[in-house]
Amino acid sequence: MRAFVAEKTDDGVTRGLREDFELEGDGDVVVDVEYSSVNYKDGLATIAKGQVARISPLVPGIDLAGTADGAPVLAHGYELGVARHGGYAEQARVPAEWLVPLPDGLSARQAMAIGTAGYTAARCVMALEAAGLSVDDGPVLVTGASGGVGSTAVDILAARGYEVVASSGSSDPAWLKELGASEVISREDAAGDAGRPMEKTRWAGAVDCVGGAVLAGVVRGLKYGGAVAACGNTGGIKLEATVLPFILRGVSLLGVDSVQTPIEARRETWARLATDLRPPHLDDAITREIGLDELDEALSAVLRGELQGRTVVRVS
Ligand SMILES: NC(=O)c1ccc[n+]([C@@H]2O[C@H](COP(=O)([O-])OP(=O)(O)OC[C@H]3O[C@@H](n4cnc5c(N)ncnc54)[C@H](OP(=O)(O)O)[C@@H]3O)[C@@H](O)[C@H]2O)c1
Repeated sequence: MRAFVAEKTDDGVTRGLREDFELEGDGDVVVDVEYSSVNYKDGLATIAKGQVARISPLVPGIDLAGTADGAPVLAHGYELGVARHGGYAEQARVPAEWLVPLPDGLSARQAMAIGTAGYTAARCVMALEAAGLSVDDGPVLVTGASGGVGSTAVDILAARGYEVVASSGSSDPAWLKELGASEVISREDAAGDAGRPMEKTRWAGAVDCVGGAVLAGVVRGLKYGGAVAACGNTGGIKLEATVLPFILRGVSLLGVDSVQTPIEARRETWARLATDLRPPHLDDAITREIGLDELDEALSAVLRGELQGRTVVRVS
């Protein structure tokens, strides 16, 4: 079958399209893959320094949607595209307990336009609302806003009525405003002044895809009782902070993981992604489509931080 494969060599990792890749093994459910998508982690799975791939050769693709025994399904996370073959091939073997029935109202393409990134954005919004955030509390910041998680977070939050401020190094603020951002600020503005233990309060809540100095700045600028959902590290893994915002303003740092979410919570989140958490710009402004033969360039672009919005991969 056709598959995009990453394979370790003495010099690093080679990656490319193969026409005759064999899907070995038995058990599990065979999914005929229609769509996958491009996530930052997929880029990492195809480079030596990425420290993500746990088998070689590996079919990357941490998410996929298609049909299994005639039923529409999707799957993402757990070991997909990391320790077992993922979505960049015409078929995948997936344990039954990892499968999510495609919710009514979502096509396979739309599910992958959401993909791991949109799912993570939804989990961030759910975490913030569970911590008490509501639309009357004030501006909500999204960092790394032009990326997959960031752009879907902007879209979901704006559709729910929040005043959304987007932090971005992107040169296309008009596009973020089209998704519903009321204002676009620079990464430097979001990072603030690292020399201060706290800043003037600005954010009722935040979705942070970046980590590092930007997350530290967000924590220092949260309003009393505010919370930030932290899910990413494109700007670094270190977090330099003092306890002051936590003990003087009662702010919260909420960790969000999409990989190991228990399957029941995952299925419930997808049901909400098809309804009240559905990103309204899925089919137009957010998503572009590529084929397997365009993956190499897209993976390089995601690693350079240059992929805007969501990129779905048409597999078969
Ligand atoms: N916790 C989880 O389960 C989970 C799930 C999905 C993704 N993630 C993580 O979330 C992050 C975003 O994922 P994604 O798929 O949305 O990736 P993406 O599409 O590549 O978006 C990342 C965005 O981060 C910003 N960025 C890139 N390099 C930067 C730098 N050096 N400093 C500051 N900002 C930078 C860019 O946005 P601007 O140009 O707009 O600034 C970029 O578009 C990644 O770290 C990913 O690993 C985690």
